[in-house]
Amino acid sequence: MTLAGGADWWRRAVFYQVYPRSFQDTNGDGIGDLQGIIDRLDYLNDGTDRSLGIDAIWLSPTYPSPMKDFGYDVSDYCDVSPEFGDLTTMDRLIAESHRRGIRVLLDYVPNHTSDLHPWFIEARQLRESPKRDWYVWRDARPDGALPNNWRSVFGGSAWEYDVGTAQYYLHSFLVEQPDLNWRNPEVVAAMHNVLRFWLGRGVDGFRIDVVGMILKHPGLADNVEDPVWEPGAAFSRYLSQNNRNYPDVFEAVRGIRSVLDEFPGTMAVGEVSGTAEELAHFYGDSALDGLQLAFNFRLICEVEPTPTPWTAEAIRRVVNASEAVLPAGAQPCFALNNHDQPRFISRHDSDGHGRDRARGAVLLLLGHRSTPFLYYGEEVGMGNVDIPEERLRDPARILTIGRDPERTPMQWDGTESRGFSEAEPWLPYGPRTTNVAAQVDAPDSMLSLYRRALRVRHDQRVLTEGTYHECAAPDGVFAFMREAAGSAPVFVVVNTTGEAVTVRPFDSPCEVLVASDLSRERYFADGDVTVEAFGAAWVARR
Ligand code: GLC
Ligand code: CA
Repeated sequence: MTLAGGADWWRRAVFYQVYPRSFQDTNGDGIGDLQGIIDRLDYLNDGTDRSLGIDAIWLSPTYPSPMKDFGYDVSDYCDVSPEFGDLTTMDRLIAESHRRGIRVLLDYVPNHTSDLHPWFIEARQLRESPKRDWYVWRDARPDGALPNNWRSVFGGSAWEYDVGTAQYYLHSFLVEQPDLNWRNPEVVAAMHNVLRFWLGRGVDGFRIDVVGMILKHPGLADNVEDPVWEPGAAFSRYLSQNNRNYPDVFEAVRGIRSVLDEFPGTMAVGEVSGTAEELAHFYGDSALDGLQLAFNFRLICEVEPTPTPWTAEAIRRVVNASEAVLPAGAQPCFALNNHDQPRFISRHDSDGHGRDRARGAVLLLLGHRSTPFLYYGEEVGMGNVDIPEERLRDPARILTIGRDPERTPMQWDGTESRGFSEAEPWLPYGPRTTNVAAQVDAPDSMLSLYRRALRVRHDQRVLTEGTYHECAAPDGVFAFMREAAGSAPVFVVVNTTGEAVTVRPFDSPCEVLVASDLSRERYFADGDVTVEAFGAAWVARR
């Protein structure tokens, strides 16, 4: 079927990230699966006001994998992990999504495979193996030292010694995730064919994992030491100018884009890191011949590892830095949550107001001209779950912070099983009280706020297509106007302070279209709008 929205549908879409292991189990093994996602599609969008109303889903990896990094270690790019289902179920998932007007993105993991991928098994057999150069191999330095000083993102050296062939291979993440060599045209061709395989099956695009790392310095030169680093610092000693956002990477990105262009109406969003300027390059600069979208994670974290504070000042800095450098026609892409970061509610809960801030934050996210990405469960206010040591699963927890607390099963109802699985779930559940069933009919619930905001965003062209400009606002308040010819302007106001504030966006009567506090959603003849502590509102001129 043809989906509505035209080739640039992604400009107006709201995306929802599903972590398949944690969405819905249907075969009683405690692990979410593709059939579970199919069964829950109506919750995401059944065309009525009862459903959430999102336009597209991104599935974290569903490929066969030893699951060392829960699917980001792929052992076959062109199949489905038996834990999740099979290709036929994936085909059904795509068809059932499309039937509801929901587009589907898969997670494309180009930087590395699993060490159990047949390509790597072959590559490590012999130095002369035809697949040897599909990965990055180096001898030790003459003095026996490691090939260079690059570090794995998960900690430790990025080099692992292979005893059988007496050389090191590069792994930017786990030892079990050897980096592919994108300087080898055979790798490029094989990885482009992976895209074609899925695009041919009807997927609408990809989220691309750490795309900024696929091409490194050709001579693998050492990274230089960060001049402000000192012993004990929470950040890495070395910069990553030779293995992250290296200039050659943007050419490879154009190559990926050209494959997408063979399938009109498809798109990709890159998982990228770096400054706002670096992000802009992933769009292909002014030619816009790169990725359609590049994630900007700076509302989550500006400087690793400290979470961005929820203050008007920080929000303003992040949003306006992006506005200042994106080429004309490029659309920003923000998220407040994902599977790698502590959940928003928990990041901003030191004073117990995480939930209040989350209600305001979603109106920032959905009110901005960005393409927003939601993360499963945030719409019912799921926070990080405290997990006992013996149930932690994320292999990265040994090296960096664990990511299990933000990956716990979706809470569908308040029963023992949370409506997720009849078996012991792969990660423990959060508190019973946070769940879909308890919120679906409660007008002032988090879920109802998300549904209202999504619906209004969908109906008001100005919110998806309008321009953005910042407006003056009291201290601690961030405000901007969305304008489009032929529509009433919409003023978005986010109060990050612990006190109510009153603003007067227009010198005329106005209507609060959506507010984090439901009781404020109405017509105001005098034009004054009060926003509660940590709250937010969308206000239209009347
Ligand atoms: C990305 C993923 C993360 C994964 C890593 C390695 O950052 O989001 O979950 O561990 O890449 O693939
Ligand atoms: Ca299952």
